[in-house]
Amino acid sequence: MANIIDGKAVSAQVKENIRIEAENLKKQGIEIGLAVVIVGNDPASQVYVRNKEKACEAVGFNSYKYALDENTTEQELLALIDKLNRDEKVNGILVQLPLPKHLDDKVIINNILPEKDVDAFHPVNVGKIMIGDYSFLPCTPAGVMELIKSTGTDITGKKCVVIGRSNIVGKPMAMLLLHKNGTVTICHSKTNDLPKVCSQADILVAAVGKPKIITADYIKEGAVVIDVGMDRDENGKLCGDVDFENCKDKAGYITPVPGGVGPMTIAMLMQNTLTAAKQQNGLLEGQSEKSADGKDRNMWNKLFLHT
Ligand code: GUN
Repeated sequence: MANIIDGKAVSAQVKENIRIEAENLKKQGIEIGLAVVIVGNDPASQVYVRNKEKACEAVGFNSYKYALDENTTEQELLALIDKLNRDEKVNGILVQLPLPKHLDDKVIINNILPEKDVDAFHPVNVGKIMIGDYSFLPCTPAGVMELIKSTGTDITGKKCVVIGRSNIVGKPMAMLLLHKNGTVTICHSKTNDLPKVCSQADILVAAVGKPKIITADYIKEGAVVIDVGMDRDENGKLCGDVDFENCKDKAGYITPVPGGVGPMTIAMLMQNTLTAAKQQNGLLEGQSEKSADGKDRNMWNKLFLHT
């Protein structure tokens, strides 16, 4: 039986550290604020937004919720974002996705100040993640990294396979593993012989969106298996991309769904909001990744030849 990674416990620890930092900042007169914007009545989005408000409360941040009508125009939403960009009480802005069809996610995200984009969805922040010079963590991939860390696994040199190539999970996930010196493969719907590629992975991250498609034949004995899926099984019950029962005896470590990656995403959002507040108050420079082998390189090597 694999070790089950307890996402609730890891997330509680991350949030407790944030709460302590927020409390100390408050003593210095710095209050932290997160604005969450939701447009329309999507029930799942309403639950997610409520959970973000609860997390803010737990770590001692102020949360400002803006629930807008389904028919809100692009102009109205952009006007709100402009107001929040200028509001000093608001350190982070999150616009809950998906937006109603008539609103273009890209236009909206591009208008959030990169310094307040705590989702790390703005192209400036995505680019910073790519070059390893980032302040804001992509929330779900960063949560996965914390879970891997909690197992004591050293990523350096390990074969890492990410299934899924979305801009929000798959691609930034691959970058974070690469920054930690993993040898990373990204798989997707057109990958040939997916089980064979996955079964070579020391660390397997599944972000597919199909219930229980990852079975024991995809898994290397003793691998770390992280399930980002939030799917429904044939009975409508919440489950992941990984067939947990089928894989749990082969994996070394495995995340459950629920209670694995899910709780981590919000914890990392709180982490980004704390970072935003510290940066906006001049308490933090951008963090940057050292070159993978720690050697000093000339600029040409850094830009073009980094192996
Ligand atoms: N909808 C589902 N997950 C997320 C998230 O992490 N951020 C935003 N903005 N919307 C979401």
